[in-house]
Amino acid sequence: MQINYTKTKKLKTYIIFLLLILIYLCSFNILNWINNSPQEIIPSNRTLGFDHIYVLHLDYRKDRREIMDKQFSYFNLDVEYFEAVSKYDKILNKLTNANSKMTVGQRACYVSHYLIYQTIIEEGFNNALILEDDIDFETNITDIMADIYQNLPEPWDTLHIGHCYETIGQPVGNSSFPNKLYQSMEPQCTHAYAVSNSGAHKLLKLIDPIKPVGPVDYEISLIVKSKKIISYSIHPQPIIQSKENTPSEVSFPTTFQFSLTNSTMNLLGLIDKSQYPSQ
Ligand SMILES: *[C@@H]1O[C@H](CO)[C@@H](O)[C@H](O)[C@H]1NC(C)=O
Ligand SMILES: *[C@@H]1O[C@H](CO)[C@@H](O)[C@H](O)[C@H]1NC(C)=O
Ligand SMILES: *[C@@H]1O[C@H](CO)[C@@H](O)[C@H](O)[C@H]1NC(C)=O
Ligand SMILES: *[C@@H]1O[C@H](CO)[C@@H](O)[C@H](O)[C@H]1NC(C)=O
Repeated sequence: MQINYTKTKKLKTYIIFLLLILIYLCSFNILNWINNSPQEIIPSNRTLGFDHIYVLHLDYRKDRREIMDKQFSYFNLDVEYFEAVSKYDKILNKLTNANSKMTVGQRACYVSHYLIYQTIIEEGFNNALILEDDIDFETNITDIMADIYQNLPEPWDTLHIGHCYETIGQPVGNSSFPNKLYQSMEPQCTHAYAVSNSGAHKLLKLIDPIKPVGPVDYEISLIVKSKKIISYSIHPQPIIQSKENTPSEVSFPTTFQFSLTNSTMNLLGLIDKSQYPSQ
């Protein structure tokens, strides 16, 4: 009897212990699910200090993937390729408005960025860097971002690392390096910008693929200009679009001058100099 009693007691303790663990684990998941609360993530240089890096990519652009992979492996970056909606995608007409004045490419680009904001919230990231797949970095982008973080005020909604037609706003912080932080004015282009969790929530409320005002970068520039979100821009931009090398899916005006002090594509021999002697 005594032995049996001890066994049952042991079993009971066991079961209670297991139940407690289960409750503990569930409460975590449930709380996370209720709040959709940001995850506990330690940002690292492998993600340039952000929680995550998404690279918007069209599967059939293997040429671009190859160039991007070489740069990411040079920096030892940990990125996730995010399958962009293509202009040939059947769902494009469901997700966007075929009657809008935008081109199919612009509509595809719009909804792809929109889907990334949704994913940032679903994944519970505090923030994520969004890159397009035709970009070139300053060779010391890791140092530049480490310095930018010293000056980046909390909270922020978007951080425009690469941009077009952006005028220089009020300086922010006291960096002694050339790539500095400024209040955003009206940054266009979406080749390299970060969105925080709060920024993703706000953008999803402010933009709408079914009722677009214009291309997504234009809408973001209007939102930033009207100060509906808290945005910062880096000047000079340390990540540029490298359109010379790879024909772009979405046509932006080409008059803007892009330049880097030290191009990673140049360093890695990824720029076809015979075709582009000016580089
Ligand atoms: C990240 O990069 C910065 C700048 O290069 C460096 O100072 C820092 O030590 C790095 N951090 C880690 C965890 O490697
Ligand atoms: C990055 O490199 C440029 C060009 O060599 C240099 O002027 C700048 O000080 C560097 N930035 C940082 C943060 O180290
Ligand atoms: C910049 O300002 C912060 C606080 O405002 C200070 O801690 C830091 O030392 C300053 N850095 C430089 C390079 O002056
Ligand atoms: C940038 O290039 C110059 C000359 O080409 C070189 O002296 C310098 O060390 C490079 N800077 C970085 C950060 O790679």
